Amino acid sequence: MDNNYVLITGASSGIGFELAKLFKRDGHNLILVARDKEKLKNVTDKLNNKKNKIIMLDVDLSKEEEINKLINYIDDNEIKVNILVNNAGIGSFGNFTEIDWNIEEKLIDINIKALTRLTKYFLPKMIENKSGGILNVASTAAFASGPKMATYYASKAYVLNLTEAIHEELRSFGVKISCLCPGPVRTSFQSKAGINKSEKAKKYLMDADIVAKVGYEEFKKGKVIIIPGFKNKILVKANRLLPRAISRKIILKTNKK
Ligand SMILES: NC(=O)c1ccc[n+]([C@@H]2O[C@H](COP(=O)([O-])OP(=O)(O)OC[C@H]3O[C@@H](n4cnc5c(N)ncnc54)[C@H](OP(=O)(O)O)[C@@H]3O)[C@@H](O)[C@H]2O)c1
Repeated sequence: MDNNYVLITGASSGIGFELAKLFKRDGHNLILVARDKEKLKNVTDKLNNKKNKIIMLDVDLSKEEEINKLINYIDDNEIKVNILVNNAGIGSFGNFTEIDWNIEEKLIDINIKALTRLTKYFLPKMIENKSGGILNVASTAAFASGPKMATYYASKAYVLNLTEAIHEELRSFGVKISCLCPGPVRTSFQSKAGINKSEKAKKYLMDADIVAKVGYEEFKKGKVIIIPGFKNKILVKANRLLPRAISRKIILKTNKK
């Protein structure tokens, strides 16, 4: 067993857990990060097959001191993270002026700040080793402005733009970076964000295992922007063709539902 690890944030449920299964299947050692220790222990037990090494770290990525704790742990134990999956993310729903600042701040801290910090920390080491990669999880929300989820959409646009820019800078370094942009997925994300999907809308949710599989396979191929699902690809393309004023209105109508 080598000392290379795949570090996955938000690995205790949803897309992160499904990605962890795929990396494990292919023999990677794993570092699983999330807040809830019990949930982490459960998924670690589920993934454990004694062939892969698995480390679970309960870290709140919205807190700078906890990210420092994570980094110190990796450093102190001379662990080599050759793949980083920045998957943890939260949403917020409602009119911008009515959403509590504490929720928005947390969203920015996790979706933007922690992702940037971890990328900044691990990427230079990957470049030094001329191997490895980063898979950032954004959303199809990254391609538009999102009335009723303004900060969330903006945070995912940040992730997409950051990933694309770094991709260009990395061309000759043997390190890859991709951005997974799922449409709505059947996970606990929606309810945690305060989104109540109608029964009809629930039918259009993709399953997390399918989203993870597409993300995993296309990341391995070095694809920069990964959009799982034919319908989502079409929606993103159509949105690009629409005048922004019309796109915003359609998204407001959809998000209101
Ligand atoms: N579901 C969707 O419709 C959808 C669509 C597009 C993009 N995405 C993106 O996909 C990613 C994964 O979401 P998901 O749908 O799989 O949601 P999920 O099932 O709610 O999973 C979120 C994961 O992030 C962890 N997490 C949340 N807050 C954290 C914090 N402060 N520190 C560390 N870990 C934290 C959670 O564990 P703990 O709660 O134990 O910390 C959990 O493991 C997110 O970036 C989301 O924006 C989701």
